[in-house]
Amino acid sequence: MNPQESTRPPRRVLVTGGAGFIGSHTSVLLLEAGYDVLILDNLSNSTVEVVAAIERVAGRRPDFVCGDVRDGALLARLFARSAIAAVFHFAGLKSVAESLAAPLDYYANNVGGTIVLCREMAEASLHTLVFSSSATVYSASHAPPLSESSPLDPAQPYGRSKLMIETLLGDLAATDPRWAIASLRYFNPAGAHETGALGERPKGIPNNLMPYLCQVACGERPELIVHGNDYPTPDGTGIRDYIHVMDLAQGHLAALDYLETHPGFIAINLGTGRGYSVLDLVEAFERVIGRTLPRRIGPRRPGDIAASWAAVDRARELLGWQSERGLEAICRDAWRWTCTGCPPRS
Ligand code: NAD
Ligand code: UFG
Repeated sequence: MNPQESTRPPRRVLVTGGAGFIGSHTSVLLLEAGYDVLILDNLSNSTVEVVAAIERVAGRRPDFVCGDVRDGALLARLFARSAIAAVFHFAGLKSVAESLAAPLDYYANNVGGTIVLCREMAEASLHTLVFSSSATVYSASHAPPLSESSPLDPAQPYGRSKLMIETLLGDLAATDPRWAIASLRYFNPAGAHETGALGERPKGIPNNLMPYLCQVACGERPELIVHGNDYPTPDGTGIRDYIHVMDLAQGHLAALDYLETHPGFIAINLGTGRGYSVLDLVEAFERVIGRTLPRRIGPRRPGDIAASWAAVDRARELLGWQSERGLEAICRDAWRWTCTGCPPRS
């Protein structure tokens, strides 16, 4: 073996939940950047076809293992099989509304999964972790923009599961200086890969606005229900910070670079710094597709908050990262994916 090769740090990364929406787009960028990617996903909210789509887009195939992140023995085998440099931990449940109906599932999967993962990482002397956190960790009573030092007080079990994980990751980093952990607080990821070959395809009825809108536009659903128009916002509908999934994916690579020289725990917002209402998004989408869509106003959705957008200074200063794509690109790419790449439902 070339001696230089043996001393070179491994460039292989584990991507839990890598067949999902954000994990798949990040896997493409990791492969394109020269990393070897091992995806671990239980396919509870994705399909194995995504792995082939990642290969088509990136030109290189990720390794794929169908399994659960809560399976410690499986993780131990994966870590023993080949040296891993870092873990991107996307695997988890993500519906705010569902978490109100099934809180134990959320704590078991999100918190339980992270505990098992971190235990096995420590066993394998692997201490670099990029975690998928969420803007839902912030207090709903604090007015946006939300900075990393804004008050934390999630309004539902989903957000509380993310905050519990952040707390345990902070505690973990305090116990051992080898840990380097970035908790990325995503605002509202949307859009798709520019090729139209990769995008968001949740199982069942989409919870998130953009995939729901796409399904209305292609006739899979009769109409969009706007969840409330009596919020204290200019048009009465909820305001969110929609960030293009490829910008978000790029933020993960920037976080990994940062962790190479910055051990400890840090939470960083990934958003655009701009908020748009539900109606803003719907109208931007309608401009892209060139027609209006059926919609009606429904009641507020339990667990929703009025407005949320990010303060993005920390990401810019520490990661040298900021979003580049706007609302139109988000809508255009989501629609291209719906029309060209998204497999039809059986
Ligand atoms: P997603 O559902 O598309 O992807 C998650 C993937 O994890 C799925 O492929 C699913 O099959 C897999 N998974 C779930 N539980 C698992 C387990 N126990 N073991 C192995 N695989 C498992 O969701 P996403 O939108 O890509 O979100 C990724 C992460 O980002 C999640 O942790 C989510 O909470 C977080 N997040 C998402 C958003 C958003 O709006 N999409 C916003 C903030 C944070
Ligand atoms: N909305 C509708 N109709 C729909 C779906 C959504 O009006 O059919 C509205 C919601 O009420 C909200 C906005 O569109 O005002 C955005 O809703 P999403 O479900 O797309 O996003 P959320 O802000 O509720 O939550 C998302 C992710 C979470 C993540 C959070 C971070 O689902 O995982 O963003 O801000 F944590």
